[in-house]
Amino acid sequence: MPMNKQQVINSLINEVSVPNKEFGSAFASTNIALCKYWGKRNAELNLPMTSSLSISLGHLGACTKIGFAAGTTDQYTLNNAAVSENTVFYRRLVEFLDLFRPTADTVFSVTTQTNIPVAAGLASSACGFAALVKAMQDLFAWPLSLEQLSILARLGSGSASRSFWDGFVQWDAGVREDGMDSFAYSLEQEWSELRVGLLHIDNKPKGCSSREAMQATVETSPFYKLWPQTVANALTVTKQAIIDRDFWSLGATAEANALAMHALMLSTTPAIVYTQGATLDCMRQVWCARAEGLNLFFTQDAGPNLKLLFLSKDEAKVKELFAQVEIVAPFATITKPVECLHD
Ligand code: PMV
Repeated sequence: MPMNKQQVINSLINEVSVPNKEFGSAFASTNIALCKYWGKRNAELNLPMTSSLSISLGHLGACTKIGFAAGTTDQYTLNNAAVSENTVFYRRLVEFLDLFRPTADTVFSVTTQTNIPVAAGLASSACGFAALVKAMQDLFAWPLSLEQLSILARLGSGSASRSFWDGFVQWDAGVREDGMDSFAYSLEQEWSELRVGLLHIDNKPKGCSSREAMQATVETSPFYKLWPQTVANALTVTKQAIIDRDFWSLGATAEANALAMHALMLSTTPAIVYTQGATLDCMRQVWCARAEGLNLFFTQDAGPNLKLLFLSKDEAKVKELFAQVEIVAPFATITKPVECLHD
């Protein structure tokens, strides 16, 4: 029998949550998929059609504090501004919080600080839901493992299931209807020379959410049937590339996987296009630089921004090519943003 979100949560947190302290707080890094999650086998539980693999972005992410509030409606503050109750953002958060209220009249106060643009294809929902789940665990002291927290965060946003670990993380599609085998885990591999470069092309919130876009792709792209095998192959090659420290193989596979995902969207009716003219210009610059011998690749999510992949020895050349690039060293010791220091 298919389960709903509440049943999954009740099976993990079987006693009514009693707050352990006045508020809970936590930081979660955002993550960028090298082998993408695109399409769900169960939309209610965000169960993916395929497994996926990501890299966490260290100090870039969300810091969330959750406590209780007076009144009748939840309060949500994002980057120092109150979020209006009429926004999709607010409704998504409240819908999620509804699943965790100890009593029907519990009102929450949630404050989030992010250091990445929100809803611009930079995985803000990934770190957002992961930080919220971690902060709730801090508040209620649930005796849950990281894998179980990963399941809870998945119910908010699929990619959030991968934001509980640093470095390379795999999220398994699983086969169970209740999704208890669909959680993420660390691949426990370090690659200190690896760099991710964020190219902020347009940070305005996107028009079509990844949730809607994924659904439309699965339903109407004639090529979607090729996707599960495409990702399975990419996963095998990427995991071997990580073990072998074969950067060319990792970068080439990630770039091809992102382009295949966007090709699926182009073949959706109506077509979904996140790529802008400036995105394409940057892709061409990457291809030219590569033709001239630079080991540089990109990946792209559900937005116009690109994430470059390269090694530390090429940092200067990448900066010369893209003056505006924001470089992240995913395996450097994490320095949390100042506002998260209480965590
Ligand atoms: O977790 P969602 O619903 O925001 O979907 C994320 C989809 C991609 O970022 C495009 C791919 C991925 O695996 O993160």
